[in-house]
Amino acid sequence: MTKAADEPQKDAIRSWWANAPMTYGEDHGQAMYTLADGSVENVELGSQRFFELADAVFYRWNEPLHRDDVPFANLFEYERFRGKRVLEVGCGMGCMSMNWARQGARMTSIDLNPVSIAQTRRRFKVFGLEGDILEADAEKLPFDDATFDHVYSWGVVHHTSNIRVAISEMYRVLKPGGRASLMLYNRNSILSKILVGWAEGFINLENLSLDPLELSSRYGDGARQEGNPHTWPVTKREIRRDLMPQFTNLEIKTLGTDVPEALNTWLPGLTRRAMTTAMVKSLARRWGWSLWMTGDKPSW
Ligand SMILES: C[S@@+](CC[C@H](N)C(=O)[O-])C[C@H]1O[C@@H](n2cnc3c(N)ncnc32)[C@H](O)[C@@H]1O
Repeated sequence: MTKAADEPQKDAIRSWWANAPMTYGEDHGQAMYTLADGSVENVELGSQRFFELADAVFYRWNEPLHRDDVPFANLFEYERFRGKRVLEVGCGMGCMSMNWARQGARMTSIDLNPVSIAQTRRRFKVFGLEGDILEADAEKLPFDDATFDHVYSWGVVHHTSNIRVAISEMYRVLKPGGRASLMLYNRNSILSKILVGWAEGFINLENLSLDPLELSSRYGDGARQEGNPHTWPVTKREIRRDLMPQFTNLEIKTLGTDVPEALNTWLPGLTRRAMTTAMVKSLARRWGWSLWMTGDKPSW
């Protein structure tokens, strides 16, 4: 896509996410939360309690990624990058950036939409953290070459119009010897193939009128808001061949934390009763929705 042709779509992506900054469930990012004991708590938007309750929902969704009460410690190399410059591309409400800052990283966070930037700045203020938080496009990062020791992104780059450009920007701003990590949605996943393609597309006959990108954007994320302008899951093959060929030590794994939830949606009640945990885990490894990849910029 040319630059000029790309701009209207970028505007659509920016305003869609500004209007629906969080999509992780009906009770995430709202003023009202149902607690574990069934009671309901109303909070002031932007208050410390608001962030705590919104984060609790996000943490619950990603349970296997935490360790020793440190959120995402099974995912992130906090120790390795303590005191180093770390960039988050697409910080959303700033939960992950907050955890990096708490673990001692010198944090910079960017997002395309101004609402997320305001939320993340507010969060850092409320929790007394330091960081540079700015509105910017992943495809045109406003940083010099070789600025960061670590660059990561979670659930963002498949939403931008040119995934390859965004990843090459992450590479450019990394210092030689630095490391990039990304979570991107997996096109070879249960959610993509069964829930998006079959349960939604086929049953609603939308696979007749929508192309694969439109179908995936309609049901891949934000289905309650009738989809979003751009959601394009990738495959492991594309990552190796087209998206991250310049990285060394490239590792790709399927997180699969979502599979039990996805199967429950599709076959209510069946998953937990008829399938052993080992079966669900094995499916999750092969068919999970989230791919996690890590690669290094060569130091020479
Ligand atoms: C699903 S949210 C993920 C936010 C955050 N990483 C998290 O996990 O909570 C997707 C985010 O990607 C951002 N985004 C989409 N395209 C972008 C781009 N080209 N540059 C920067 N951010 C972008 C959106 O504004 C939105 O905040």
